[in-house]
Amino acid sequence: MTIEKAAAIGGGVIGAGWVARLLLNGIDVSIFDPDPEASRKVGEVMKGARRAYKQMLPGGLPKEGKLTFAKTIAEAVTDADFIQESVPERLDLKHKVLAEIDLHAPANSIIGSSTSGIKPSDMQVAMKKHPERLVVGHPFNPVYLLPLVEIVGGAQTFPEAIEVAKEIYSSIGMKPVVIRKEIEAFVGDRLLEAAWREALWLIKDGICTVEELDDIMRYSFGLRWAQMGMFQVYRIAGGEAGMRHFMAQFGPCLKWPWTKLMDVPEFNDELVDLIAGQSDEQSSKWSIRELEKIRDDNLVAIMEALSKQNKGKGWGAGALHKDYTKRLATLAASTTSKAAAKSKATKPVKKIVKKPAGKRG
Ligand SMILES: NC(=O)c1ccc[n+]([C@@H]2O[C@H](COP(=O)([O-])OP(=O)(O)OC[C@H]3O[C@@H](n4cnc5c(N)ncnc54)[C@H](O)[C@@H]3O)[C@@H](O)[C@H]2O)c1
Repeated sequence: MTIEKAAAIGGGVIGAGWVARLLLNGIDVSIFDPDPEASRKVGEVMKGARRAYKQMLPGGLPKEGKLTFAKTIAEAVTDADFIQESVPERLDLKHKVLAEIDLHAPANSIIGSSTSGIKPSDMQVAMKKHPERLVVGHPFNPVYLLPLVEIVGGAQTFPEAIEVAKEIYSSIGMKPVVIRKEIEAFVGDRLLEAAWREALWLIKDGICTVEELDDIMRYSFGLRWAQMGMFQVYRIAGGEAGMRHFMAQFGPCLKWPWTKLMDVPEFNDELVDLIAGQSDEQSSKWSIRELEKIRDDNLVAIMEALSKQNKGKGWGAGALHKDYTKRLATLAASTTSKAAAKSKATKPVKKIVKKPAGKRG
């Protein structure tokens, strides 16, 4: 299944990342963002994304989709079969924007929300026409490179919508994981916030600096986590007896005072100044755009390295990267030849809209 026409509502850090992934997959995108600087900001992200994709595809990129800036949400979504909402994380704003998208989007479109932690059930109450086609599609920054998307359905979401969303996100090179039960912050951000809270304590208490903490991550378990997750890594850490031995050894530590996680440090000016000041010391020699380039180059290099593992079949994100770049290279070859321009596999997005009561199969 491919997307014929996409809409992006919100073009900040995340929205622009979605736009970049979609355009680089040859998909036309219509975007609405009231920020007068939106076009410049999206342009900057596109520049970075093109640069990264050129490293992944030395033979050339597919023909880019066309980007149109709409004046209203209605104009952006009116003929889109896939809409991704990426406006700031406020429930009142999500309600307002999703209600408007719902009003104007074609009935059989899929609507994904980038929210980091709001439950879809809490958002879809604002959608009066077709709340059943809303899913959370929670990505990770930079959206054009990191493949994971957490898909979460709400109380009103149809199972078919989740299936179609899985196909849609997969069609643009992503790895969808459907979250089995709806909770705030899903899985990724639950883990990240737990680690962040502990990190804030460690710095507030003067145990380490921002830079030292980052070094402790990136020279150790950060390297492990790019290729195996927590549980596969811990299985190995248990030695030949595997996970059971690991649990026997480290399970009791959970009762020791190894963590302050249940408390949240007071988020006051003093803490913000401490963290921001140390972050400046660590990184102010680079601009944010320079840091983005360094990050992107490293991510591409890691995914390329992983794509060669496992006897050339690729491992984890590397296996997906291998398939994705192969698919984009084929698309590039076909979109450079006019004759093949129409050969995009096109199965229209399936209808998932509400049926009269009692008629659902
Ligand atoms: N930043 C991250 O790392 C990250 C990661 C995953 C998910 N998210 C989620 O993505 C969403 C967007 O976050 P972000 O970091 O891109 O924020 P951002 O502040 O960078 O961008 C938000 C954009 O939305 C625009 N906007 C505001 N009101 C709007 C409206 N009524 N209609 C359309 N656009 C509007 C703003 O002008 C801005 O460009 C949030 O829900 C956030 O939780 C963020």
